[in-house]
Amino acid sequence: MLVAGLSGANGLDVSLSNFLGIKLLHVESKLFPDGESYIRFINFEDVRGNDVVLIQSLYPNQDKRYLELLLAIDAVKDLGCRTVTVVIPYMAYSRQDRAFLLGEAVSIRTLLKVMSNLGVDNLITIDIHKEESLKYFKGGVAANLDPIPLFAEVMRNLTKDPIVVAPDQGAMNRALKLSRMIGYGDYVLFRKSRDRITGEIKHELGEVEVAGREVIIVDDIISTGTTIANIARYLHEKHPSKIYAVCSHGLFVNNAISKLISSGVSEIFALNTVPLPKNVNIIDSTPLIADALRRLTK
Ligand code: R5P
Repeated sequence: MLVAGLSGANGLDVSLSNFLGIKLLHVESKLFPDGESYIRFINFEDVRGNDVVLIQSLYPNQDKRYLELLLAIDAVKDLGCRTVTVVIPYMAYSRQDRAFLLGEAVSIRTLLKVMSNLGVDNLITIDIHKEESLKYFKGGVAANLDPIPLFAEVMRNLTKDPIVVAPDQGAMNRALKLSRMIGYGDYVLFRKSRDRITGEIKHELGEVEVAGREVIIVDDIISTGTTIANIARYLHEKHPSKIYAVCSHGLFVNNAISKLISSGVSEIFALNTVPLPKNVNIIDSTPLIADALRRLTK
């Protein structure tokens, strides 16, 4: 097995190659002056007959990274690889998993269809927005890795008797599982609705007792920080001892971090599926991906 990291590997290619003791395939990627992408496998002779793992997380500029990934998939197929496994730690476009308004594109379907058509054998993602979306991938194995055991390990050591909060219906299973794995049963669900035209978010903020307790708000993605900040602001007024925000993919666009901190969040945790700002605690996803790759090759 060989591993190759593209521009969005965020160091996971090197950490996986060290962790699993597998060789790195070196990739040259550049942009032409007019903005077109270019890919070349430097040690291309190694590809023939080998199982190739391509790592590309689709954080901004996600369109560029996706195109680069398509070029790389086609190139390794052309170079005669035995199989190609694509690892996309953060799968962009996964929130557009249906036509919420008539006429909308189902973006995640398009991305997965194109990769299937190019002949990708296996696909690995981490905490994709909705696991059902993987049905659009028509290759071999499609695995969605669950980061909750990693979160639980960190939060178990850090907290005592916390309440785990789901900031919307989609996060409910995550919160339930995290609270169970930490070893306490307390979790709360807040319902969220989004105006599909303006993007405005509204929460139903029910009664909840958090005074003196630690609170963990868990979600798959933090983008602008609005979802978690809304909940944190509300809970902060009820005097919890601490509020933690934990997510798989921390995009932190615009002023998300300061929004979270000013809403009462004391510490933020995220996986290294995307590059993270300094004040975010990093949870390494290397062991999770390595384990999935080992299972694939058994
Ligand atoms: C959407 O349902 C996702 O699970 C996240 O809750 C959402 O992407 C968070 O976005 P933001 O940080 O912009 O509120």
